[in-house]
Amino acid sequence: MLVLLVPLLIQAIRAVPFPPPTGPYQVGITQHVFNHTTPHDPVAPQNASSILLATIYYPTLSIPIPGNNTAQYLDPTTAKLWGDILQYPNNSLQSLTTWNQYDAPPLDKATYGTSQKPTVIFSPGGGENAIMYNQLNSELASQGYTVLALDHPGEIPYLQLPDGAEGVYGLDITAVWNQSLMTAVYNMRVSDTLAVIRELYPPFVASSGAPFNTTHYLTIGHSIGGAVAAGTLAVESSILGGVNLDGLFFDLPDVKKPFLLMAGEEHTPELDATWSPFSANQSGWWEWVNVTGSSHQDYSDLGNWVDLQGLRNKTLTPRLGPIWATRMDSIVRTFVLGFFDFVLGEAEWLDVPSSKFPEVVYINGSLKAS
Ligand SMILES: *[C@@H]1O[C@H](CO)[C@@H](O)[C@H](O)[C@H]1NC(C)=O
Ligand SMILES: *[C@@H]1O[C@H](CO)[C@@H](O)[C@H](O)[C@H]1NC(C)=O
Ligand SMILES: *[C@@H]1O[C@H](CO)[C@@H](O)[C@H](O)[C@H]1NC(C)=O
Ligand SMILES: *[C@@H]1O[C@H](CO)[C@@H](O)[C@H](O)[C@H]1NC(C)=O
Ligand SMILES: *[C@@H]1O[C@H](CO)[C@@H](O)[C@H](O)[C@H]1NC(C)=O
Ligand SMILES: *[C@@H]1O[C@H](CO)[C@@H](O)[C@H](O)[C@H]1NC(C)=O
Ligand SMILES: *[C@@H]1O[C@H](CO)[C@@H](O)[C@H](O)[C@H]1NC(C)=O
Ligand SMILES: *[C@@H]1O[C@H](CO)[C@@H](O)[C@H](O)[C@H]1NC(C)=O
Ligand SMILES: *[C@@H]1O[C@H](CO)[C@@H](O)[C@H](O)[C@H]1NC(C)=O
Ligand SMILES: *[C@@H]1O[C@H](CO)[C@@H](O)[C@H](O)[C@H]1NC(C)=O
Repeated sequence: MLVLLVPLLIQAIRAVPFPPPTGPYQVGITQHVFNHTTPHDPVAPQNASSILLATIYYPTLSIPIPGNNTAQYLDPTTAKLWGDILQYPNNSLQSLTTWNQYDAPPLDKATYGTSQKPTVIFSPGGGENAIMYNQLNSELASQGYTVLALDHPGEIPYLQLPDGAEGVYGLDITAVWNQSLMTAVYNMRVSDTLAVIRELYPPFVASSGAPFNTTHYLTIGHSIGGAVAAGTLAVESSILGGVNLDGLFFDLPDVKKPFLLMAGEEHTPELDATWSPFSANQSGWWEWVNVTGSSHQDYSDLGNWVDLQGLRNKTLTPRLGPIWATRMDSIVRTFVLGFFDFVLGEAEWLDVPSSKFPEVVYINGSLKAS
């Protein structure tokens, strides 16, 4: 009897935490469903396109106690769906844990409300859940930013809704995204993001009493989400700057504000014909860098899924380069936070090449031309 029980107990308590965020604050997490009907929704199965889900990461002083007040990472359905298709060992994605505390009290308005950093709007890669960027978004929150990571139901294999509501199934993981679907999703995401900034987020913040910034924003995204960061920055004056993490563009606007482009090593002009003309169209500050050893999914948590569990080359996780996840995370957070500081006038832009980050290669930028 005892012999049988021991392995069961070990399995029940196995937890693989992400590395904790490094900023001065702890990280709260909450989710909010916005009622919003997106016109021309290309991914509306089951008539389910009347909502948007925001996962909100924010600074808190509450202390995380692992296994007690910390939030789960992936919901069980998402973990099983992705784990099975990508051939993870049973229950391995389920074992990943975060340092986020569900509904922890935000910073006190009276003490910290005088200059809340801008709200960051995060747009994930096509077909990927917004929660699959926990490393980066937790870090931003630990540094004082509130991050709204947006999901559109129907686009991702499964979207768990909060408070025990039924989730929404969407496009299959293995679905092939052709150009017309990608373009339609891009347009939908730009429209969703603008609706959040212009109509949905300010009243939500006012009614919640949280001290989040509703007048100034930064946009960032991965893959299609990186294009969304640019597309919204170009048309919305409350957004101060944006970052595209390895994403193809769908239009090539002059965003007229600071813009950072970070590429995977294989992201050459031959592979993606949009980055050069996008760059050429800019009248504001921009810089394009490339991280040696990285590939497309190194900008998401997927590298952590394998590296935190010693599963390098042992699953079917696509598009990871040889760079280790913890190293990549350190590079991405340094450049993204450095860029935000630069946009807010709090620091000089980082020099590239840098001896601390030899992997980061300068490709081109506005300063080179002048
Ligand atoms: C959204 O709509 C549903 C039902 O239509 C309602 O129960 C819910 O309170 C609404 N949520 C918000 C945030 O307005
Ligand atoms: C959703 O259902 C409502 C009521 O049944 C209908 O009026 C509407 O056209 C449907 N929307 C979509 C996108 O199918
Ligand atoms: C875990 O949380 C509960 C309730 O929030 C609290 O009563 C308990 O003391 C906590 N346990 C530890 C080990 O901190
Ligand atoms: C994983 O779970 C499935 C059922 O969900 C089972 O058939 C399989 O044997 C399990 N694999 C291992 C390695 O435990
Ligand atoms: C929002 O961010 C801007 C830009 O950093 C800042 O000037 C403003 O004071 C912030 N608003 C609040 C209410 O903290
Ligand atoms: C693109 O993909 C969508 C969704 O799978 C499909 O409905 C559409 O027919 C495809 N278009 C082309 C031109 O292949
Ligand atoms: C950007 O560049 C493309 C091609 O290089 C051009 O067609 C387009 O008109 C330019 N401007 C804007 C605002 O898109
Ligand atoms: C990115 O850097 C690698 C070398 O680190 C190089 O092979 C590749 O061509 C670079 N990409 C671009 C767009 O220049
Ligand atoms: C760098 O960007 C500028 C401005 O778009 C462009 O004129 C120049 O050709 C680019 N240089 C390289 C090496 O691609
Ligand atoms: C993973 O596979 C690549 C390519 O085959 C190889 O270069 C690398 O050393 C492998 N990494 C590990 C940790 O096994």
